[in-house]
Amino acid sequence: MKLGLIGCGKMGKALAAGAINAGAVAASEVFGYDVHPPAMEGLVAEHGVTAAGSIGELATTVDVLILATKPYHASAALQSIAASGSTKESLLVISVAAGLKLERLEGEVGEGARMIRSMPNTPALIGMGAAAFTLGSAATEEDSATANRLLGAVGLVIEINESLMDAVTGLSGSGPAYVYMFIEALTDGGVQNGLPCEQARELAVQTVIGAAAMVQATGTHPAILKEMVTSPGGTTIAGLEALESHAFRSACIDAVNSATRRAEELGRP
Ligand SMILES: NC(=O)c1ccc[n+]([C@@H]2O[C@H](COP(=O)([O-])OP(=O)(O)OC[C@H]3O[C@@H](n4cnc5c(N)ncnc54)[C@H](OP(=O)(O)O)[C@@H]3O)[C@@H](O)[C@H]2O)c1
Repeated sequence: MKLGLIGCGKMGKALAAGAINAGAVAASEVFGYDVHPPAMEGLVAEHGVTAAGSIGELATTVDVLILATKPYHASAALQSIAASGSTKESLLVISVAAGLKLERLEGEVGEGARMIRSMPNTPALIGMGAAAFTLGSAATEEDSATANRLLGAVGLVIEINESLMDAVTGLSGSGPAYVYMFIEALTDGGVQNGLPCEQARELAVQTVIGAAAMVQATGTHPAILKEMVTSPGGTTIAGLEALESHAFRSACIDAVNSATRRAEELGRP
């Protein structure tokens, strides 16, 4: 399978490098194009990706094309795909652009275009991504298998109804930033209580990894895991009380709500 990348920024790079690192696609079979040529440098130098001269060249070379520009640049890219002479038989397009609906994506590339809308996240770079995708009206079961193979090589992947895609954007698409902020804040708390910054960060990171792995490995509801580590009158309940008094849970729910609403806005014509 030849894989193409339109837009080689943070998300495009994470997906392409992650898929190459995971062995899902050979570096010699990956081609990229970016209007901002320096964005290609890392992929070419470190991962052996080939730089293409245009979107038209990409679209007529590869079997699967990932559209990874910002949403407001997607139309121009889609029009270039439409004008490339590629056919629905020869090309599957996977868009990762937040908010952009399949109806619009299909409309811009042309009738019968095989299209998938997806929402991955940047930990795909290290094989720890979380992605969801929806098949377009002309996409086939084989296209679904391709999306599962590509996105599954770089982490968790689920197939969902398109009506839930903005919620996925608000949760796992934007979620790594929420967790980075949490890690940063835990680190600051450690520093405020005398820990050296480096050690505070190491402890914060491992705590987040360990707690997430516990939820995943045990399959136990996080509320029960929380209860199991909260002794009456102990230190943890004192910390939890502080989080509750600052509406930690509401803040997290609001973060997902706000990002979901923003994805909906980006999808409006
Ligand atoms: N970053 C995330 O965590 C994340 C997570 C999930 C989904 N996404 C989605 O992924 C997409 C890309 O986000 P990003 O964070 O990777 O953005 P980014 O870092 O800005 O990368 C996009 C790249 O595409 C280039 N570009 C713009 N128009 C182009 C065109 N017509 N042809 C080729 N290249 C073009 C941009 O160049 P210029 O800088 O010169 O414009 C830039 O280098 C977005 O739609 C976003 O919704 C991102």
